[in-house]
Amino acid sequence: MSIATIRNVIRGDGDRFVYVVSAMAALNGLLFGFDTGIISGAFLFIQDSFVMSPLIEGIIVSGAMAGAAAGAAVGGQLADRLGRRRLIFIAAGVFFLGSFTMAVAPNIPVLIAGRLIDGVAIGFASIVGPLYISEIAPPKIRGALTSLNQLMVTTGILLSYFVNFAFADAGAWRWMLGAGMVPAVVLAVGILKMPESPRWLFEHGRKDEARAVLQRTRQSGVETELDEISETVEKQSDTGLSDLFASWLRPALVVGLGLAVFQQITGINAVIYYAPTILESTGFGGVTSILATVGIGTINVVMTVVAIALVDRVGRRRLLIVGVGGMVVTLAILGTVFYLPGFGDVLGIVATASLMLFVSFFAIGLGPVFWLLISEIYPLSVRGSAMGAVTVANWGANLLVSLTFPVLTANIGTHWTFWLFGLCSLVGLAFVYRLVPETKGRTLEAIENDLRENVSLAD
Ligand code: BGC
Repeated sequence: MSIATIRNVIRGDGDRFVYVVSAMAALNGLLFGFDTGIISGAFLFIQDSFVMSPLIEGIIVSGAMAGAAAGAAVGGQLADRLGRRRLIFIAAGVFFLGSFTMAVAPNIPVLIAGRLIDGVAIGFASIVGPLYISEIAPPKIRGALTSLNQLMVTTGILLSYFVNFAFADAGAWRWMLGAGMVPAVVLAVGILKMPESPRWLFEHGRKDEARAVLQRTRQSGVETELDEISETVEKQSDTGLSDLFASWLRPALVVGLGLAVFQQITGINAVIYYAPTILESTGFGGVTSILATVGIGTINVVMTVVAIALVDRVGRRRLLIVGVGGMVVTLAILGTVFYLPGFGDVLGIVATASLMLFVSFFAIGLGPVFWLLISEIYPLSVRGSAMGAVTVANWGANLLVSLTFPVLTANIGTHWTFWLFGLCSLVGLAFVYRLVPETKGRTLEAIENDLRENVSLAD
């Protein structure tokens, strides 16, 4: 969102309603970020309440990701069938249930059940937040508005650090986990007042309602946009799901799946989830490393704001290329710092600075742009299902990296682990350069048309 756009919103000469709708839907992102971030702090104290084997520990920490993969697997189809808005309402309900179950859990099985339920909600939210916003946003600012969701993911992660900090003295893990109920209620109540996606309405034969939503969210061009949607809907076969395997859709699936996996195997969550441990190994004390972790969380938020300001101006591809390129360089430096013998103050500072730069490059590229692109490049008839498939891959890769990071550092060393992430980033850079399309400023219907007519996606 450019400064001029922000000014317009404040003055009121932009269409405020679409910003309010997008901000409300972006609470999905807040819950996604908060609920993935909160466990690291809560876990320290859960260990005091229950006796656990390492396997159970692993299940509690990673259970949400497995749940999220399951949630994404069904969430996409639910979004296509029930509608985007209804799924957001359901996601908010499931978030509430998961947080409540964890907060009152009398024993480990109930705690695990709560964590899995919470994960399912995270899976739903990770799809439906960007999906809903991208379908309701005007094309010119779709990138900025959809990326509000990622801004809220990063804000949620940061907020979880503060909540952990606030309840840490009391060791109140139940309060930490239960805190997620608050945004869940706000989202459930708020979304009831928001309209359904005009594209989903149109596709389900509710044309007048679609027109009414566009009239509320656009200052002009409503009829042209409706015509475009109508043309697209006419073209699509009514088979829905089988479209997912149509050959013309393959390039878009490859782009989505590739970005989903690269977003994770380049190591962002090794840093987000394990930052204090990494920083301690550079010689920082416990408190300093927790503070530096808050610093990393803050930079993640701030650089996502920068991405939002740029994404509709410089475009998706350029942000990705600069972002992933920067990750290659910072990971190479990180590996080298950890390779050099004997950590002095200087190397500790270089390592911390490189970690922060690495997160910055993620936050201007792969962080927001992955979620944005997968909400843009799929045809309306299977948009939810396709996003679902791609999001399952994202959560699967996330699980893989978070589970293997400690094993990798123990076996091949921290330096090789970072170099490995660096290598993955290098391959990711080539992938982006060759295959990822530019979607800036175009209507979702124009993007779909190119895909149908086999126009090379990356042109
Ligand atoms: C990723 C998450 C990650 C977060 C960090 C999201 O886009 O999907 O896995 O933890 O960004 O900001």
